[in-house]
Amino acid sequence: MIAIDGFVATGKGTIAKQLAKKYDLYHIDTGAFYRAIALKTILHPHDNIDKILDFINLKWEKGKIFLDGVDVSLKIREQEVTNQIDRICNLAKVREFVTLLTRNIAKGESVVVDGRDIGNNILPHADLKFLIIADKEVRIKRRVKQNEAKGIDTSYKIVSEDVEFRDKRDKLNMGNVPERIVIDNTYLTLEETIKEMSKYIDQIL
Ligand code: DC
Repeated sequence: MIAIDGFVATGKGTIAKQLAKKYDLYHIDTGAFYRAIALKTILHPHDNIDKILDFINLKWEKGKIFLDGVDVSLKIREQEVTNQIDRICNLAKVREFVTLLTRNIAKGESVVVDGRDIGNNILPHADLKFLIIADKEVRIKRRVKQNEAKGIDTSYKIVSEDVEFRDKRDKLNMGNVPERIVIDNTYLTLEETIKEMSKYIDQIL
């Protein structure tokens, strides 16, 4: 069981996917669950969060997320959905829902799970816990570039404020886990990051 927590634009999702492939692990992206719940609140604007969670049917199958039977893997990445996550992601009920769902999926599997609170909350007994960090300036530039590639017109200032806001929130959710292995990929390529993390994984697998 490998837990990967990381800040926005550190590439943790891609890193987790690559490690899953390399070590034949089952990858679970917990951010996708928050995104899918946010999407459901957009689709059902008049339902309160209790109703949303009572009736939601979330399935995670091999890197794809199904909301009430529909594959929403691409839809949940849209800006409209991202904007709504802030409203729901710190509600205790929502966090509890995602925690239980993730633990259920992870049960009995060899997993690599990425998110914010995996090492401290979702899988506190993980064999390895990583924390991916990178300089804020570099992450902002990465995000601006990613947005440009998607055709989203955002200024450095807007992205910078957004990253600032998310960092504060993510830090609180990550808690303090002394055994987390900190990987700083400010100056590392994806391949170099994988290589660095593999040194630790090779010791336990
Ligand atoms: O990893 P991501 O950017 O797709 O996650 C979407 C949002 O969900 C992110 O803004 C923070 C939240 N999140 C969280 O609070 N805890 C997690 N374990 C995963 C994601």
